[in-house]
Amino acid sequence: MAVRKILRIGDEFLLKVAAPVTHFASTELHALVQDMFDTMQAVDGAGLAAPQIGVGLRVVIIGSRNNPRYPQREPVPTTVLVNPQITPVGREMVEDWEGCLSVPKMRGWVPRHAQIHYRFWSVAGEMTERTVDGFHARVVQHECDHLDGILYPQRIRDMKRFGFEEELFRQP
Ligand code: NI
Repeated sequence: MAVRKILRIGDEFLLKVAAPVTHFASTELHALVQDMFDTMQAVDGAGLAAPQIGVGLRVVIIGSRNNPRYPQREPVPTTVLVNPQITPVGREMVEDWEGCLSVPKMRGWVPRHAQIHYRFWSVAGEMTERTVDGFHARVVQHECDHLDGILYPQRIRDMKRFGFEEELFRQP
């Protein structure tokens, strides 16, 4: 159990495609997930992907409730996603401000699928499926992008809507 260092944009490891987990319920997988929760909670994240702490496996954690980094967003249930797979539902895209623990202090206006169906496995190897929208759908899409080496700035259409939080949301 440990708070791990979060890699930041510019680190080449964040651009790699992560490998599927093939051994479930292992001591190593449990330890990885515990470290990920310790790390995410230390910095008020809504999600974290294993590559962000330098582990090239398809493991994501999500979870957000009364999160100071994302006020007024609906809660996301605390969940471990092993080998997640996303299928968009419909063609509707929605844009919203997004941040990333690997892109500290910045925000960008990012398009995402409005609704998705996703399936994932637990640490124990049990499969679950969900259909979600809103902030939950956004967080899952953002975190799963990390597994494919994609950071949210790559998805911004209008780079005028990318910058430091302090400047973008400065109170007059
Ligand atoms: Ni991120």
